[in-house]
Amino acid sequence: MTQTSPATSAPAAPSTWQVLPAPVPDALDHPDAWALHGAEVVSREVDVDTYGHEDLAFTAQYLWARLQEQEYARRLRLVAVPTGITHPTAADVVGSASVVLPRHSNQHVAHVSVTVRPSARRRGAGTALLLAAEELALADRRTTVILESEHGSEPAPDRPGVLEPASGAGRIAADDPGAALCLRHGYALEQAARYSVLDLPVAPDRLPALHDAAAARAGEDYRLVSWQDHAPDRWVDGWAHLETRMSTDEPQAGLDLEEDPWDAARLRRYEADIAASGHGYLLVAAEHVHSGALAGFTMVQFQLDRPGPVFQEDTIVVAEHRGHRLGMLMKTDLLRRLPAVRPGAGRVHTWNAEENAFMLGINVALGFRPAGVAGEWQKRLGSAPGGARAAAPSSAR
Ligand SMILES: CC(C)(COP(=O)(O)OP(=O)(O)OC[C@H]1O[C@@H](n2cnc3c(N)ncnc32)[C@H](O)[C@@H]1OP(=O)(O)O)[C@@H](O)C(=O)NCCC(=O)NCCS
Repeated sequence: MTQTSPATSAPAAPSTWQVLPAPVPDALDHPDAWALHGAEVVSREVDVDTYGHEDLAFTAQYLWARLQEQEYARRLRLVAVPTGITHPTAADVVGSASVVLPRHSNQHVAHVSVTVRPSARRRGAGTALLLAAEELALADRRTTVILESEHGSEPAPDRPGVLEPASGAGRIAADDPGAALCLRHGYALEQAARYSVLDLPVAPDRLPALHDAAAARAGEDYRLVSWQDHAPDRWVDGWAHLETRMSTDEPQAGLDLEEDPWDAARLRRYEADIAASGHGYLLVAAEHVHSGALAGFTMVQFQLDRPGPVFQEDTIVVAEHRGHRLGMLMKTDLLRRLPAVRPGAGRVHTWNAEENAFMLGINVALGFRPAGVAGEWQKRLGSAPGGARAAAPSSAR
């Protein structure tokens, strides 16, 4: 697909990489699944290098399941292997990139992430993958690329070379590999998201105290409902509405994103994809008793064959129901239900925009500790071929 030569100062061999789209066979035991198995190994090695653990690493099954969902976004996984290899295997994969091109909204955006095995770095594989991803984005008439970088810690404010995002909250070290690659390729740091971990079980008196205080504030106007893996029909439209609101209510700094509408069909597809990736989910929502509408929800996912890690997904309380401690009420309720659903759960992983003071406040009170930071970077690709939509300033959106 793309070949690049590394800079002359880079180590000599291998001198070039080929970037290939990962084949997506019907099953993972098919020989064509080599690229997805290779991408899993890359993900594990990168996570151990970045965070010191594999909790967040993508399994081949997860990657495969994500690629099945092509209805709401065109999704591709790219892999980098040394040039000259005609029949690559998983062991040849030195790096991998994800490219997501939304189909129903945000049709100007490409979401990209790039990772390279620590042992293969500074030899141009990251650049080759990023350029191939940008090429795909341009060919699909995308004008904005949003790139994510991951870092094991947030640097001290007085450390030389600290970058502050356009949002004004959080910090990223400019010489961290992910940041360096983004800067080299002309990306602007828009936002920093704090990665935090909550070790389980939570101290015994903490959850009841927080839950009772939140319940006292929420009063009789709200009632909690909960489900696992399959939403009752009664709640699907309400949940879809909350997901749509999530796409605009979450702080997005200067990221050029527009509303992403959800409906019942998309939620059912989302549930099917969660199951296909070998995951389950647990959700707690707050019903506004008077109107029967959902005021908010919080949700976690977990890999069914790995008892320890739990992943916090979306949490939202819609604007008209804020100020009643529903966020804390739903989260404490979910954490109290979790041991029955996942008896071996050892920790919850979450990400929050650094400027999202309310959500961070809830998480800090629950006992989440900082464990890293993710950067959200953005670049305009300029005019795409074929008279594509002109890049608009984010204020115009
Ligand atoms: C970021 C990452 C993908 C780079 O992969 P790579 O194959 O080493 O990248 P390249 O060799 O193409 O590097 C391209 C340029 O990025 C910059 N860069 C990359 N790593 C760097 C580092 N550790 N220190 C300083 N600059 C660095 C340099 O300008 C480099 O060019 P040079 O080697 O000619 O000076 C890899 O380090 C990684 O997987 N990091 C963790 C995951 C992550 O944060 N990914 C997000 C990337 S946006």
